[in-house]
Amino acid sequence: MKVLVVGGGGREHALAWKLCHDDPYLDLIAAPGNPGIADLGRCEKIAATDIDGLCALAAREEVELVVVGPEAPLELGLVDRLRELGIPAFGPTKAAAEIETSKRFAKELMLSAGVPTAMARTFTDVAAAKAEVRRLGAPVVVKASGIAAGKGVIVATTLDEAEAAVDSMLVDNAFGAAGAEVLVEEFMTGEELSVFAVTDGTNVLPMIAAQDHKRIGEGDTGPNTGGMGAYCPVSIAPPALIAETVERVFLPTLTAMREIGRPFTGLLYAGLMLTPSGMKVVEFNCRFGDPETEAILPLLESSLLEPMLAVARGHSLAGHPPHRWRAGASVTTVLAAHGYPGAVRNGDEIAISARGDDVVVFHAGTKRDADGALRTAGGRVLAVTAVAPTIAAAREKSAAAAANITFEGKQFRRDIGWRELERGA
Ligand code: AMP
Ligand code: GLY
Repeated sequence: MKVLVVGGGGREHALAWKLCHDDPYLDLIAAPGNPGIADLGRCEKIAATDIDGLCALAAREEVELVVVGPEAPLELGLVDRLRELGIPAFGPTKAAAEIETSKRFAKELMLSAGVPTAMARTFTDVAAAKAEVRRLGAPVVVKASGIAAGKGVIVATTLDEAEAAVDSMLVDNAFGAAGAEVLVEEFMTGEELSVFAVTDGTNVLPMIAAQDHKRIGEGDTGPNTGGMGAYCPVSIAPPALIAETVERVFLPTLTAMREIGRPFTGLLYAGLMLTPSGMKVVEFNCRFGDPETEAILPLLESSLLEPMLAVARGHSLAGHPPHRWRAGASVTTVLAAHGYPGAVRNGDEIAISARGDDVVVFHAGTKRDADGALRTAGGRVLAVTAVAPTIAAAREKSAAAAANITFEGKQFRRDIGWRELERGA
C-alpha cells in the first residue's frame, strides 16, 4: 500500500508512525515530511500548500491514499483536486473545511443545528461590534472569523481590551482578510477537551479525549502557544461523555453539513468546554489536533489506516467496530525552540539520546544538515510521548526523556497533565 502524508509537523510524524505500525509493508511518502518521518519513508520537497505539486506527485506515484495533516491545504481545496483525479484522499473538501476556516460559518451551523455552543454574533461594522461588546459586558470574547495563525481569539477581561481587539481586526486589519469579519461571543468557563472523530460524513468513530496545554509556562502561565503538551485519557471525559459528544455535537453537525450540500468526511475535531451549564463547542477543526495526535495515536491499538482508507474510498463506516485502545496513559511533552512563541531562533544542534521503552520522539520543527547534524527549524521542535500505566508515570517518563534531549534554548513544561494529577489520577 502506497500512502502520501501531506505536512511536516509532529502530527504528521505521529500519523505516519501509526500508519506504518498498521501496515508494516506500507510504502510511505511524505511532502514535505521532516527528518523523523524520513526514517519511515521518503520525503519529497513539496510544500503542504503546493496543491499542483502535491497532485502531480500523488498521480505520478499512483498512491492509493493521501492523508492530509494541516488545514492549509484543505482550505486550498487539495482534497477536491485529488478527488477529481480519482485519488482517494482522507480529509474534507474546501467547502466542508469551512467548519474550521470560517468561524462565522461554524457558529451559524451550530446555532441552526442546535449544537451547544456560546452565543455569538458576527460583525463587519466597528460601531455595531463595539455596541455588542458593551451589551454583553466583560469578560467577552472577540474572534477573527478566518484562520489567523492561532492568534485571532482575544478573551478580553475588560471592555477597553475588547474594543481594542475590534479595532485591531476591523480597523487596523491586524489579521488581514481573516479579521474582516469578527465574532463577538459570550464568555464561557470550564475545562477544555479535544475530541476527535473519524467520519464518512454520516457515521462517526470517536476517539478518546485529550487535553492540550496552550500556555508556554508551567501551571498554564505566560503567552499562548500552538500547544506545549497533551495527555490522555482524561478522567472527566468517560465513555458517557464521548457518547454525549457524538449525540449532541458530531451527529447533528454532520447532518447539517449534508443538508447544505457540504458533507464532511475525514477527521472532525470538536474543541469542547465543560461549562457549569453543560458541554459547549468552542471550535471545530477539520483535521487532527497538534499535539493531541501525538498523545492519542500511541494508545490506539486498532488500525487507523483501515478506517481512513474506507472513508477516502467513499465507503460507509456503518457497522464499523469502534477504535480499540491500549490500557494505560499517554503524555506528550513538546520541546520548543529559543524565543518561542515569539521570534524563534533556528539552527541549534539537537542531540537525542536513548529513548527508552514506550517513549516515542516525534519530530516537528527539525531539519537535517548536509553533514547529518539535526537542527532546530521551527517553534515546536519535538514532541516526546511516553506511555505508562498511569498519567503520573507517563508524565515522569516523558519529562525525563525531554530533559535528556539537548539543544540551545530548549523550553519545555514538566507539568503536562497537572489537572489530571490534581484530580488524583
Ligand atoms: P478557538 O481558536 O476558538 O479555539 O479559541 C482559542 C481559545 O480561546 C480556546 O481554546 C479557549 O481557551 C478560548 N476561548 C475561545 N472562545 C471562548 C469563549 N467563548 N469563552 C472563553 N474562552 C474562549
Ligand atoms: N491543539 C490545537 C490544535 O491543533 O488546533
